[in-house]
Amino acid sequence: MDMEGKVAIITGASRGLGKAIALKYSQAGARVVVCARTNSPSGFKSTAQTVAKEIIDSGHDAMAIDCDVSNSDQVEDMIGTVLNRYGQIDVLVNNAGIMIVGEPFEQISPDRWDNLMNVNVRGIYLMCWHVIPIMKAKGVGSIINVGSNMGINIMPGGGVAYSSSKAAVHMMSYALAAELKPSNIAVNVFSPGSLKSEGSSVIPWNLINWESRTDPFEVAQCTVFLALQTGNGITGQYLHQAEYGKTWGPGISN
Ligand SMILES: NC(=O)c1ccc[n+]([C@@H]2O[C@H](COP(=O)([O-])OP(=O)(O)OC[C@H]3O[C@@H](n4cnc5c(N)ncnc54)[C@H](OP(=O)(O)O)[C@@H]3O)[C@@H](O)[C@H]2O)c1
Repeated sequence: MDMEGKVAIITGASRGLGKAIALKYSQAGARVVVCARTNSPSGFKSTAQTVAKEIIDSGHDAMAIDCDVSNSDQVEDMIGTVLNRYGQIDVLVNNAGIMIVGEPFEQISPDRWDNLMNVNVRGIYLMCWHVIPIMKAKGVGSIINVGSNMGINIMPGGGVAYSSSKAAVHMMSYALAAELKPSNIAVNVFSPGSLKSEGSSVIPWNLINWESRTDPFEVAQCTVFLALQTGNGITGQYLHQAEYGKTWGPGISN
């Protein structure tokens, strides 16, 4: 199996794209750390614990960790717990994110703006800050930051806050990739396209094109390829899922 022997942390893995990636990685042989907040304010039933149980029940290795990625102490505790259990971290998928789309700028209060930036941008900074020394010590690693078309193009429903946060994620990834290439650590942006995720389903604007959206489980397959990258492979790239097998993927030179 492609990811045999690897340990992967996936943030925001209680549902949606993160859950799909966690299940896919476990099927590929990885030991999977499923991160989300146990007391999620979202109201969704699925939690990190239920996802980890699903993985374990299917015969694979996983652990659930209650962690708010915007909280430095909780992130530090999570990394300590993972190292105690598995002793290594090979892959980090920074997927946890908040979406505010289809709302005018004036409706986004300073508190909502700060919360979105804290999760979407500070969360990735904190996760990387704690994980990179571990990957450097091992001499290899792959970091996948979930970005968005909305961080590149002005799109209907994009919204100033969400688009700004994803543009920051993209630039953080490119700059980090350049810095970490000599350490053999890949950093890429994965853009999943419009998803039929739980989070999407409660945003009225998303319902306009609901049927054209993609199931997260269809999208997750190509993130296995990204998990296998190193600083000597594909790094510093924005990779859209719809282009997998066309402009990027196994056997395609970038
Ligand atoms: N849906 C789309 O069409 C689309 C398109 C492009 C990009 N994306 C990006 O893809 C990623 C996943 O989106 P999705 O559609 O799967 O969203 P989702 O269904 O709302 O899931 C979001 C995940 O993030 C977690 N999360 C939120 N705040 C967190 C925090 N402070 N700490 C830890 N975990 C937190 C949630 O867990 P808890 O609430 O249980 O903690 C949940 O597991 C996001 O980065 C999103 O911006 C989505």
